[in-house]
Amino acid sequence: MEFDLVVKNGRIVTASEVLPLGLEIGVKDGKISCLGTSLPTSQNTKIVDAEGAYITPGGIDSHVHLAQANSPTGDGFETGTRSAIAGGTTTIIAFVTQEREQLSLFPMLEDYHAKAKGVSSCDYGFHYILTNPTKEILRNELPIIARKEGITSVKLYMTYDPMKLNDRELLSIMMACRALGMTTMIHAENSDMIALIIDGLEANGNTDPFFHAVARPRIAEDEASYRAISLSELVDAPILIVHMSSETAMTHVRKAQTRLLPVHAETCPHYLYLLSEELKSKPHDHFAGAKHVCSPPLRHYPQDLEALWQGIANGTFTVVSSDHAPSKYDHPDGKKLGFVDGIPRFAKIPNGLPGLETRMALLFSESEACLSPDEARIGLPKFVQLTSTNAAKMYGLADRKGSIAPGYDADIVIWHPGTNGETTITQDMLHHGVDYTPFEGLRVRNWPRYTILRGEVVWNKDEGGVVGKADYGQYLKRGPGQVIVGKTGQKVHGMLENERQYWMH
Ligand code: URP
Ligand code: ZN
Ligand code: ZN
Ligand code: ZN
Repeated sequence: MEFDLVVKNGRIVTASEVLPLGLEIGVKDGKISCLGTSLPTSQNTKIVDAEGAYITPGGIDSHVHLAQANSPTGDGFETGTRSAIAGGTTTIIAFVTQEREQLSLFPMLEDYHAKAKGVSSCDYGFHYILTNPTKEILRNELPIIARKEGITSVKLYMTYDPMKLNDRELLSIMMACRALGMTTMIHAENSDMIALIIDGLEANGNTDPFFHAVARPRIAEDEASYRAISLSELVDAPILIVHMSSETAMTHVRKAQTRLLPVHAETCPHYLYLLSEELKSKPHDHFAGAKHVCSPPLRHYPQDLEALWQGIANGTFTVVSSDHAPSKYDHPDGKKLGFVDGIPRFAKIPNGLPGLETRMALLFSESEACLSPDEARIGLPKFVQLTSTNAAKMYGLADRKGSIAPGYDADIVIWHPGTNGETTITQDMLHHGVDYTPFEGLRVRNWPRYTILRGEVVWNKDEGGVVGKADYGQYLKRGPGQVIVGKTGQKVHGMLENERQYWMH
């Protein structure tokens, strides 16, 4: 066999182990064809020397907002996917959003295909955000979306007026998704608690960006998370609660998992690194806190971060995604929408942070590749699970993505801890389309040296930077997702055996 690419001299990390030094990766036609020693090469074989490096599967970021109508100054697919590969992410799953008045899912899907095709540097799939789950959509369109279009997950909102669903709607969608093997992702915050607090804050003139964090207290996330778990338990549907930031909410998930309910959780780097003090005014810029407005908000105390790191270590979290949902800061249609006639109005600031490019490095930085076993917060196999493998499984890509093994797409990230040294994150070095990073000035212990997508080097940190083509990314039709935690078919506490049969269809 003549290989197109051989990666040698590194240490391969999978979701279960760090393989012995010296195993080489032979790549042919974009796929990993074998792992072995002393693989044959010819003058046609490209060789990537990973001497002293760790080799991990390409990142899969399963929570990315690009080209969204409600953030017109955010990233489109061109800048977003370029940013992805520069940070070691080779696959993203982005959101197609149903607007309430749209009674068919297909036209919007076509729009998103048009926005992504030909301008994407990494591979991409879609989730569907459902905001108006009509019977027609659930009965007739969702099966086609899942089986023909390869969109096997939905995201549902319990908050935000233009998107939020009531409990009955959540239940109906969960049942439809369960029947189709689709994954239901849930944004869990109690909308009415938040609305009440916002009204009070505004009445009292407390409208600076910082009050965004006051308006969305942990208890709003806790209540909604517990409710989401209860709804999913009632109808026996697997769920994933997205972007979790609260220890109590996380504890609800952990308890459900202990009962073997199929309840999954996601958190994001900003909830692991940043606190609500970021939302405060800066001496030179009263409105600067708007850069850190996201929902759920950054939390107040270092213990909040610590609790989430524990959830990473103890297995409560299934994935760490970016929730990349940027808006430009210094733009009248971006974050400055919340600066009304010279007065900050936090409730009008578009929510969301950029983070697609920084996710992998921020997590790798806390791994045992960069720190002693005592100091590391995360083992290398766990890093691979959280940034790649688990998302591939949950979202129906495990036949192609998320592992370094024969038959998989040759999606690879090469890290040279030590030799490549530390990197200070600055807006200057990033490739997204917005004008700031919430992680400005934060030092990470390493940055991907190479990103390889289907056998092509697309990011070469020291020679050329982004060297991939902006039309190399492919649309990924996904299969049904796997349940990673727990299993369906659990009996609800206090219900009769098979009690659901009397009403569930
Ligand atoms: O603040 C955020 N996260 N906005 C983006 C949309 C979402 O809820 O994920
Ligand atoms: Zn959300
Ligand atoms: Zn003020
Ligand atoms: Zn999001």
